[in-house]
Amino acid sequence: MKPTETPKTYRVKSFGCQMNVYDGERMAEMLAEKGIAPAPEGEDADLVVLNTCHIRERAAEKIYSDIGRLTKGKTQTKPPMIAVAGCVAQAEGEEIMKRAPAVSMVVGPQAYHRLPEMLDRAVQGERATDTDMPPIAKFDALPRRRKSAPTAFLTVQEGCDKFCTYCVVPYTRGAEISRPFVDLIAEAQSLVEAGAREITLLGQNVNAWSGEDDKGRAIGLAGLIRALAPIDGLERLRYTTSHPADMDDALIAAHGEIEILMPYLHLPVQSGNDRVLRAMNRSHTAESYLKLLERFRAARPDIALSGDFIVGFPGETEAEFKDTLSIVDEVRYAQAYSFKYSPRPGTPAATMEGQIAMEVMDERLQRLQARLNRDQHAFNAATEGKTCTVLVERKGKHPGQWLGKSPWLQSVWFEGEAAIGDLVEVEVVEGGPNSLAGRLLVAAPA
Ligand code: 5AD
Ligand code: SF4
Repeated sequence: MKPTETPKTYRVKSFGCQMNVYDGERMAEMLAEKGIAPAPEGEDADLVVLNTCHIRERAAEKIYSDIGRLTKGKTQTKPPMIAVAGCVAQAEGEEIMKRAPAVSMVVGPQAYHRLPEMLDRAVQGERATDTDMPPIAKFDALPRRRKSAPTAFLTVQEGCDKFCTYCVVPYTRGAEISRPFVDLIAEAQSLVEAGAREITLLGQNVNAWSGEDDKGRAIGLAGLIRALAPIDGLERLRYTTSHPADMDDALIAAHGEIEILMPYLHLPVQSGNDRVLRAMNRSHTAESYLKLLERFRAARPDIALSGDFIVGFPGETEAEFKDTLSIVDEVRYAQAYSFKYSPRPGTPAATMEGQIAMEVMDERLQRLQARLNRDQHAFNAATEGKTCTVLVERKGKHPGQWLGKSPWLQSVWFEGEAAIGDLVEVEVVEGGPNSLAGRLLVAAPA
């Protein structure tokens, strides 16, 4: 590649999970530290970072077509310098360099702290791939948080040792690691100082987080949450995503005891059938999962439940799929994500017998989603007439309109006097399928 000028503007496009959003924000911060500015909306960027996801569908193919559009002037007028980051970068590595000569940098999710250095080399005309996995080093090398929206993500744990047979994450994100307690307290404090009022703790298996507190005592996620809760100015805490196998009494109890821990739990089940769950290498059964949820509901009766589902796992019969519908009927999720099984190269399920035809998966997904939508709407409708606190996140489409989140993670819109970052009381006037319409309640003067 020919040497070029140092880019003046960047755009980071993050796909996939919230951990990728966090990584995308950190890469943006590093580029900003190098004096590179975010490209204004609708304008060309000199450097485009494609922060990719590999979890489902033809993610890798999509990235090649995105690269093609960037280089052929379809996305912007001038082809930018291109970096590919994220899980496709990890999985494909050098292959991307071979197939896409327009790419200057390929950087995996555990190595992106080296992006500034790779950029210097790219400016000299040198292409570089870095897919090393020294996880903690990355966090130590990242700059301090300086700016934050009212809601912020904080990665506390990364990687996965569970090896569900359909999932690529243990290969792209590596083994489970927990970030040290002191680093997390410090990062949370700087996020709050920078304007965050809500922090969501992130991890592929966030409830597997473990560490030692400042007195050297061994603690789990509940202990971390207890230590974060008193931070002055922090109003809400959330965490995602949890695995049923790593749930402990302390975390369940925390939901009943810590006021700023929001009444919301995302706990993927994937299937309601025990044979399928075993084939998936999930360590729970439908029954043990339901028992776990009962304990959460006992600790926090208003807790909103969320989950993930896969339909059409290899060998799934109609009767086994119906068990998934039954567990949905039993739980009544407030919100959920559901996917058609997608074979991931290198995972055990990709070569299992009994791969399910696409039409069958389509049809099952539709039936499942109809139930999940029914339950989400019912959950929203049940809040009609009630008052709830909303954290204002952004302006709505119409003048004077605001959008925020309820404690149960529902999107709420309302009109009136407010500002981003406010916590306001609204009365829910309508609970729709996807959001709540609220009426701002003006607090009576004390
Ligand atoms: N096919 C379909 N869905 C998948 N997920 C993970 N791997 C696959 C796959 N190969 C889903 C799971 C997981 C969520 C993040 O993505 O439901 O919980
Ligand atoms: Fe993938 Fe299973 Fe690990 Fe979740 S727990 S990241 S689904 S292997």
